[in-house]
Amino acid sequence: ELLRPAVRDLVGLKVVVSAGPTREYLDPVRFISNPSSGKMGFAVAEEARSRGADVTLVTGPVTLSDPPGLRVVPIGSALELRGAVIAAAQDADIVVMTAAVADYRAAQASGEKQAKVAGDVTVQLTPNPDILAELGQQRGGRVLVGFAMETHAGVERAAAKAARKNADFILLNYPTREGTAFGGDDNQVTLVRPDGSSEDWPRLSKREVARRLLDEALRVRARQAE
Ligand code: CTP
Ligand code: CA
Repeated sequence: ELLRPAVRDLVGLKVVVSAGPTREYLDPVRFISNPSSGKMGFAVAEEARSRGADVTLVTGPVTLSDPPGLRVVPIGSALELRGAVIAAAQDADIVVMTAAVADYRAAQASGEKQAKVAGDVTVQLTPNPDILAELGQQRGGRVLVGFAMETHAGVERAAAKAARKNADFILLNYPTREGTAFGGDDNQVTLVRPDGSSEDWPRLSKREVARRLLDEALRVRARQAE
């Protein structure tokens, strides 16, 4: 790390990063969520900041402390995440969606704590909006990056997602890769493009994954400017 010369290749660029889980409350004391630690998104935000970008980090509830020198926007639900990301993305150059957005929320969240009942209960869920897909529909000149975790047919599924959401690329990982993904300090990802082409990266620190992600985003940006 220390031997690496300071690269300032993101000066003048606005980068928006979403990180962490969302919480979808069923009632005031219960929610649906997932184990996202936020580490990957924070690493992207910190790396972008160190390379000179103006960074907005929209984050769900995580135990990490706010990195200095960037705008941190805390959110709870997917709907809040959407509001904050869409607002920040308006004049952004690069948007990176690492957030683990809950796919559903309660169709009718209760304002009061629900007492338990004898026997089974059914909770009606309704789909959350797809934020990456919404950004993909209003692309402007932005570079759009997603993440995906798949248990099977990873490259195929991630490429289909990138194409459907109109993202420039998706970094794919697998929940079964030891020491990576949820909560780990390392990540082992495959870069997947909407055309189905892909590149396997070795197991790297999340910061190094962030570095390569931003390198790739700059290459996409240069190509778009041609
Ligand atoms: N994403 C999003 N809004 C959602 C769901 C996902 O912006 N409501 C983003 C994620 O932040 C991620 C990418 O889309 O960058 C892929 O997320 P993933 O959950 O793999 O995609 P889904 O379309 O939800 O597909 P799946 O059915 O596999 O969960
Ligand atoms: Ca999903």
